[in-house]
Amino acid sequence: MERLSVSFKNSIELKTNNIYAPLVERLNEYKNSPCTGFHIPGHNRGNAVLNSFKEVIGSDALLVDTTDEFDNLGTLHPASGTIKEAMDLASKCYDSRRTFFITSGSTISNLALAFGVICPEDEIIVARNSHRSVLTGTILTGSKPSWLMPKKLNDWAIYGSICPDELEFKLKNNNKVKFVWVTNPTYEGVVSDIKKIADICHKYDVPLIVDEAHGSLWNFHDELPVSALKLGADAVVHSLHKTGGAMTQSSMLHIGKNSRLDETKIEHALKLLHTTSPSVLLLASLDAARANLSSKQGYELIQNAINNARFFRTQASKIDGVSVLGENSDIITDITKIFLKVKGLTGKRLESVLELDFNIEIESASDEGILILSNIGNTRAEFEYLLAAITKIAKEDYPDLSHLEDVKFMPLTEPNVVMTPREAYFFKKIKVKKEDSIGKIAAEVIALCPPGISVLLPGEIITKEHLPYLSEYSEIEVVDE
Ligand SMILES: Cc1ncc(COP(=O)(O)O)c(C=O)c1O
Repeated sequence: MERLSVSFKNSIELKTNNIYAPLVERLNEYKNSPCTGFHIPGHNRGNAVLNSFKEVIGSDALLVDTTDEFDNLGTLHPASGTIKEAMDLASKCYDSRRTFFITSGSTISNLALAFGVICPEDEIIVARNSHRSVLTGTILTGSKPSWLMPKKLNDWAIYGSICPDELEFKLKNNNKVKFVWVTNPTYEGVVSDIKKIADICHKYDVPLIVDEAHGSLWNFHDELPVSALKLGADAVVHSLHKTGGAMTQSSMLHIGKNSRLDETKIEHALKLLHTTSPSVLLLASLDAARANLSSKQGYELIQNAINNARFFRTQASKIDGVSVLGENSDIITDITKIFLKVKGLTGKRLESVLELDFNIEIESASDEGILILSNIGNTRAEFEYLLAAITKIAKEDYPDLSHLEDVKFMPLTEPNVVMTPREAYFFKKIKVKKEDSIGKIAAEVIALCPPGISVLLPGEIITKEHLPYLSEYSEIEVVDE
């Protein structure tokens, strides 16, 4: 893959045979040395749960289902004990000034960043393809976002990379901007030039926050794009649960080494927003993911995911009627995220054929294509099976039944903003029929998941381009003008 900006060397130093995950070790000790507990959680190591539930998840999971504060595992807020040790190890590994463990998903990482550093009325520049949690941050803070529209990849009906020159233009013309917030990579794996973007931000002395939720493997392999933490971002969010092997909801929030942000404010925001009962299971899964990914074994797992992706991309692109994003074009993607389309079929139809006829479940489908993740947990045999399925589908005549389905074509349109998200959110609202909403001001966040990118935010005029995408809505909340 073409490298962006600076040369990179990380994995070589990180690879190690010595796997040390202190929180995992402490949890193991806790599991094996039961005490008589009179504290939360009330199921007391699984003694009082429904048997069928215990059978599904395994009694060991319940034995270690506890929160911080107890059993000398340390605390999350304030960071102490083994939990702190695990966070410090992650910080060292990612080369951050500070790393926080989050058990409420990257949603809370993003909200804590917004709430921690952005003030009411602050002008901020936000990439429009940001996850709704970033955009919710603008409601929470009352800030004034100016939208940075990523390139539109019309053939794929998705957003592409961010144009650094457009960012520079915006910064040059508005010296009140307090922060820039971008998402990299996109959900479909398109990569922006973060080095250039960081340099531009810092030229204007504006901090850069990068939502790198889908790039948590990047720190660990030099065939993957360079993490924003190495390229000067002031804060970076990683959803370790998405591709890093941690359990669902586990995320890390990193403060860059030379960050312009005040991490005590972010810590404060986390105290306010984060659960006060973090699952130690999830915290340990973050510790385990860091230890695993930075080990020799983890490196090999990532190498395997890259090799499988390369194999699949090369073979799939040779099939008549199949196109793979990033192959035969200058669009730069994370190789492990494979967005493809088959001629004559919508992504939705392709997804359902894969599911019904081949028992294959992919990451997601849009109108145009499907997103396949080459994960550290996938095998070559699985990719061979997927390739055989795609080959068969592309060759055979699978009628496209998209006319029977709800087509959700994401409108990649520049929003027409008439109120700040917060103003509109708290304004008097009414519900109107979707068809009657054209020309009115949206009062709710409309962001279908996946990918959770907002199509409409409170304060934006609803247009006819939005309607086909809103097939799940019969009514829409609008500002009662
Ligand atoms: C770019 C991006 N950021 C943040 C999030 C939120 O992450 P989580 O689901 O861990 O709360 C998502 C979720 O899909 C995402 O795609």
